[in-house]
Amino acid sequence: MRTVKFGLIGCGLMGREFGSAAARWCHLTEMDVRPEIVAVCDTNPALTTWFTEHFASIKQVTAEYRVLLANPEVEAVYIAVPHHLHAELYCAAIKAGKHLMGEKPFGIDQEANRQIMECIGQHPEVFVRCSSESPFFPAMQQIGTLIEQEAFGRLIEVNSGFLHSSDMDINKPINWKRLLKFNGEYGCMGDLGMHACHMPFRAGWVPKNVRAVLSNLVPERPDGKGGKALCETWDNATLLCTASDRDGGEFPLTIKTQRIAPGHKNTWYLEILGMKGSARWSSKQVNTLEIMTYTGGQQAWQVIDMGHEMAFTSLTGGIFEAGFSDSILQMWAAFLYELVHQKPLKRFAGCVTPQEAATSHRLFTAALQSQRERQVVELS
Ligand SMILES: NC(=O)c1ccc[n+]([C@@H]2O[C@H](COP(=O)([O-])OP(=O)(O)OC[C@H]3O[C@@H](n4cnc5c(N)ncnc54)[C@H](O)[C@@H]3O)[C@@H](O)[C@H]2O)c1
Repeated sequence: MRTVKFGLIGCGLMGREFGSAAARWCHLTEMDVRPEIVAVCDTNPALTTWFTEHFASIKQVTAEYRVLLANPEVEAVYIAVPHHLHAELYCAAIKAGKHLMGEKPFGIDQEANRQIMECIGQHPEVFVRCSSESPFFPAMQQIGTLIEQEAFGRLIEVNSGFLHSSDMDINKPINWKRLLKFNGEYGCMGDLGMHACHMPFRAGWVPKNVRAVLSNLVPERPDGKGGKALCETWDNATLLCTASDRDGGEFPLTIKTQRIAPGHKNTWYLEILGMKGSARWSSKQVNTLEIMTYTGGQQAWQVIDMGHEMAFTSLTGGIFEAGFSDSILQMWAAFLYELVHQKPLKRFAGCVTPQEAATSHRLFTAALQSQRERQVVELS
């Protein structure tokens, strides 16, 4: 079993998810590689305690990311920090020769993403991927297999999205997601968009153009100190794109990211409608995949319970439904598998590539322009 020694920078919500996934690596029964967290870094020292309490492997705790990156024992890093720090920290890690799992949106804006891409270009020896766990749910994996089998025929329409609703409460105090400085002008697209783009991009359905309608539904929120603060970023985004399939057939692709979607706590969905076959899945009914195969005659949707059909074999019995933390564990398995084997286990069991992340920046930047000009914008 090959061990990859990891440094973790950013010990918040997602940093802990990685810690937890690493701690239950024994759940994956056929891996020939495992992560070991040897160093942690956070500017808030209180957050490193959970790690040192649970991981005997940690030898270095620091508040200064440069110190962690100078540690020769660290082979790879996971950097889970707010968006305005992505370019600085990702570039520093790549230049230090550390393999990198970065968080989305992989740079706060297109310029930050360009800097990261330039560093990657200068260091081809470093393996870099961006986090997005949505394709690792069993139903998404099955849809990926159907795409590979070309089961959909001529595409009619593809709809992908990621919906939240907690910002519907207008009395909820402002957080970093509504501030330009921390989340960038993309707003909900930077925060949620990569998840909605991952499957279509991996399928090769790259938008050629976009007409975006972006909404700032709650322009002001309590600032948490008794006053009001301006909300500077977009709450909701609906992107209508023209995409084309491998044969050049064009079809509408919608990518929706919403922070105010009534009733949706954390809903990933993908719907593919084709002349030969169709499929749809939403994390609202995580275990349920709907498929329709059309060969003439009656058009009937099949409803399939997915159980635990994961890309990377796990201990969990095949009948048991999957959840968020399972998809995170699978995503980490995909990162380590590709790091060691230099190719993903299969096409839809790979983490977001830097090129796919860069495409999302082209799309979101074009969407901002489309909103400003109220026009369709071609992707450069
Ligand atoms: N993949 C997903 O499903 C998912 C979910 C949520 C967030 N995210 C992404 O993960 C990233 C982090 O989000 P989060 O929700 O974990 O945020 P968080 O606020 O919970 O954690 C971020 C941590 O970074 C630390 N930090 C800030 N500056 C630092 C620095 N200079 N050096 C070291 N540590 C520093 C903060 O103290 C904080 O503990 C963001 O890019 C976000 O978009 C991804």
